[in-house]
Amino acid sequence: MRISFCCTGTPPEPWLAALRAALPQAQVELWSAGAPVADYAVVWAPPQEFFDEQSELKAIFTIGAGVDGLLRLRLPPQAALIRLEDAGMAVQMAEYVSHAVLRHFREFDAYENQSGSGQWLQRRAQRHADFPVGVLGLGVLGARVAQTLTQFAFPVHGWSRTAKVLEGVHCHAGQEQLQDFLAATRILVCLLPLTDATQGILNRDRLSRLRTGGYVINVARGAHLVDEDLVALLDSGHLAGATLDVFRTEPLPPAHVFWKHPKIQVTPHISARTLRQESVAQIAEKIEALQRGQSVAGLVNREQGY
Ligand code: NAP
Ligand code: GLV
Repeated sequence: MRISFCCTGTPPEPWLAALRAALPQAQVELWSAGAPVADYAVVWAPPQEFFDEQSELKAIFTIGAGVDGLLRLRLPPQAALIRLEDAGMAVQMAEYVSHAVLRHFREFDAYENQSGSGQWLQRRAQRHADFPVGVLGLGVLGARVAQTLTQFAFPVHGWSRTAKVLEGVHCHAGQEQLQDFLAATRILVCLLPLTDATQGILNRDRLSRLRTGGYVINVARGAHLVDEDLVALLDSGHLAGATLDVFRTEPLPPAHVFWKHPKIQVTPHISARTLRQESVAQIAEKIEALQRGQSVAGLVNREQGY
């Protein structure tokens, strides 16, 4: 069995070593143009040329959760496309979103400013009931985030394409329940995949439906958000702030308005990092299952886009 590794922006040697250790029976190679045809690919942001040459793949494993970038390429039609499921990302996402929610709810930015000027001032305590959180996307990451937030006593709502039951979470599904979900939400978290149906979903119309004093946390993809609509609603006072980890152009250009906006916190796409050990273990287990003729989870539906 031959495995071709082609991950742009990832130092290959530790990955090659980990894959070889996990699958000693396989020939694991770093891809270069003209390399022999492989059975499996492990990829992140590969060039189109990779798939033009690797036309016989049985399965393509991505070392991320999102597949929007891959689906823009021409992939070999017979190859199964398999994404990472959690592999250590869910707990990181729960940490990141909890931090952003608590920072806003407990007004830590205001206390940091007070501390800088030696000011002892106890602000009025806020009620969890006044800060309902809404999580767009109740998949592997969104479900973990939603359930973590229930532990802090926030009312938590979730929205997905198909109906879900999650303990402690008010679940809404489909377009017909989106307006109710937004109207019930003050802190909005986006954990949707980027697809034709979700592109630009965080626009003026939808964000205007959040309760006054709304807060936006986008940890999914930059193209979910209409940048100028967010800025307009922050400047008008309808929204109180935003924490953004993902952007339409990454790295976020130095002149982008988000960097210096007083109500926006920016992080450089770090809310849930790919962890090599966990990812290799998951991919190796799935390759072995496929070799035995078994089915595996994490299969992307190319029509649906996730
Ligand atoms: P997932 O398990 O596939 O979950 C996706 C969720 O979105 C599902 O609940 C799905 O509904 C819902 N959904 C999809 N299309 C919808 C639509 N049109 N309307 C309503 N709900 C819809 O994905 P995941 O593993 O949780 O990852 C989510 C996204 O997070 C990834 O696609 C990626 O873009 C992003 N991400 C970001 C980082 C980062 O560091 N910033 C790291 C990892 C992932 P159903 O359950 O009904 O199918
Ligand atoms: C990161 O953004 C991922 O999709 O894993």
